[in-house]
Amino acid sequence: MKNIYITTAIPYVNGAPHIGHAMDYCLADVCARYHTLLGDNVRFQAGTDEHGNKIDLKARELNVPVQDYVDKNAKKFQEFVAGLGVEYTDFVRTTDAGHMRRCQEIWQKLSEHIYKAKYEGWYCTGCERYVTDKECEENHGACPDHQKPYERLSEENYYFRISDFKDKIREAISSGEMLILPDYRRTEMLKLLDESPDVSISRPVTQLKWGVPVPGDESQVMYVWLDALSNYITVLGYPEIDIADWWPAEAEFVGKDILRFHAIIWPAMLLGLGLPLPRTLVSHGMVLSNGQKMSKSIGNVVDPVEVLNRHGLDAFRYFFLKHIDTFQDSDFTWEKYDAAYANELANDLGNLVQRLATLAQKNHIELGEYVAPKLPEEYCALMDNYEYSKAFDYAWEQVQKINRNIDELKPWSLAKNCETEKLQACMTKLICDLLDTNQMLSPFLPTAAKKITAIFADQIVPPETPLFPKQ
Ligand code: MSP
Repeated sequence: MKNIYITTAIPYVNGAPHIGHAMDYCLADVCARYHTLLGDNVRFQAGTDEHGNKIDLKARELNVPVQDYVDKNAKKFQEFVAGLGVEYTDFVRTTDAGHMRRCQEIWQKLSEHIYKAKYEGWYCTGCERYVTDKECEENHGACPDHQKPYERLSEENYYFRISDFKDKIREAISSGEMLILPDYRRTEMLKLLDESPDVSISRPVTQLKWGVPVPGDESQVMYVWLDALSNYITVLGYPEIDIADWWPAEAEFVGKDILRFHAIIWPAMLLGLGLPLPRTLVSHGMVLSNGQKMSKSIGNVVDPVEVLNRHGLDAFRYFFLKHIDTFQDSDFTWEKYDAAYANELANDLGNLVQRLATLAQKNHIELGEYVAPKLPEEYCALMDNYEYSKAFDYAWEQVQKINRNIDELKPWSLAKNCETEKLQACMTKLICDLLDTNQMLSPFLPTAAKKITAIFADQIVPPETPLFPKQ
């Protein structure tokens, strides 16, 4: 039994939760549930990123006090996570007094790697980062992700000397001590690391008020990423609590767009604090909408609540964990979503459960005590490598195999011919195969898996309404 710590990126609360946010939570939840199945002790962080200019700007635009604004939105995010069936153990808000105090302590511990200097450069408030002149030129002066012109800023800031840690980070990435997944992102990060200048880690209060004050300098506020990245350890109680029982994290789930912060600044911070690096950075792809990046201006933003309400939670998790590839960008369309629900979830799994339970009840099949076997090696290998959509495919192939087996074994003919013993053996085998598969499905579809377990426990009773009703 191991202690396993799993983390998710903390979203900015400058709007309602969107479909992309669901990816970090759902993937981490699969990881947490899989480790629980293996018998590990799991600690699972989620949270909200509540500082920075874009949140401040949004609250001003709405003419509400910024604290009220983030309080309201943080609540929405908590409800959203719960609605996804995600069972985190710790929730951190970056405006929590405890988090802010710990951030300041982290700053002080890093002080020998911090210096003050003047900087002039191009800044994107959407990304909350400076871009190089080259990047600004290549993007024709506007951020492609946020479709806004870069701002020219000239400030006196504090800098974090990334160069103090570059060799160690390079070594950790290259050797796999800090594994970056998918593998091809590793080379990308090594290149970025080589090009990475020291990072500006503060903003003058004249430019940004909404943040953690820099200790000992009232004129400066901490850079939002320094504050945000710290959440992974402040939530465990660092620095006043020894976090060695949980840290390093087994896996940190982030979108590919923010991997650079996690692969460069974050390890530099940890090395500066004398802490080990996370074992794995899992960077997932983007959810596209009709083949395009979701954006308000294109008008193709998919509302996760609408998706949840359409066919329920299992359908949501089914689609986003199986049809959305764990690592590659993948497309959401309502047509694909409806088809996956009707043809796969309802047809393959829902009908299978209904058929087996009805046959079992009608023929008084008794299962006896069912003991779940060890999970198959192929499945574990995929899960251990964070290939979740592939592991889900593997489990689903077993669902389809059981359907084929029913058609071949024809238990209804055995019943008709009164071949009672053969029928009992055949049904027991089919139901046990289903329950074995159900175990593999449980990290992905916890609600459905629970219902299936209940249906085949003790007296087998088919559900009154199908697991996935026709809609
Ligand atoms: N606040 C930072 C993260 C700090 S972590 C120390 C941030 N927030 S965010 O709200 O912009 O993004 C939160 C997460 O959602 C990121 O992992 C990001 O990649 C993910 N996604 C945002 N849009 C997405 C898609 N369209 N598809 C998949 N995930 C995407 O960055």
